[in-house]
Amino acid sequence: MAESLVITGSSKAEKYESLIPQLKALVEGEINFIANIANIVAALKQSFNFLWVGVYFVEKDQLVLGPFQGPVACTRINYGRGVCGKSWETKTAIIVEDVDKFPGHIACSSDSRSEIVLPAFDKKGDIFLVLDVDSDQLNDFNDIDVKYLNQVIKLIENLI
Ligand code: SME
Repeated sequence: MAESLVITGSSKAEKYESLIPQLKALVEGEINFIANIANIVAALKQSFNFLWVGVYFVEKDQLVLGPFQGPVACTRINYGRGVCGKSWETKTAIIVEDVDKFPGHIACSSDSRSEIVLPAFDKKGDIFLVLDVDSDQLNDFNDIDVKYLNQVIKLIENLI
């Protein structure tokens, strides 16, 4: 297992390109799912200094807080509520350029300005968690993040 991260490049895409193989190395040889998710969200936070990075697990009709890095967050989100619940409901990645303009956005931190949420699917095609990344900058997420965070999602999907 790699024990430290070395992020190279100046653009976001270059940083993701340098991070993704290291994420794979980080989880290689470790079978504990929570430990691997914990390190993945920590690596994302460390690499980009996002405000908040974490997962919510699907548990019956709610999302329940899992491993995260950043300010304390709400523990449960109902189906269809907030950006996370909406990503679960619509089964799609959602980018929110300005959280104040997203109806029903759940403000865990008043410093959050923009957000991206992506769902992860199990082998039956059901969503088992969502990955949530928050920024303290407006409009901080775009197609680059969707592209590379989807690679992170694939990595997570292969852990179960
Ligand atoms: N903003 C999210 C809630 C989770 S926190 O951002 C950590 C939402 O609207 O679903």
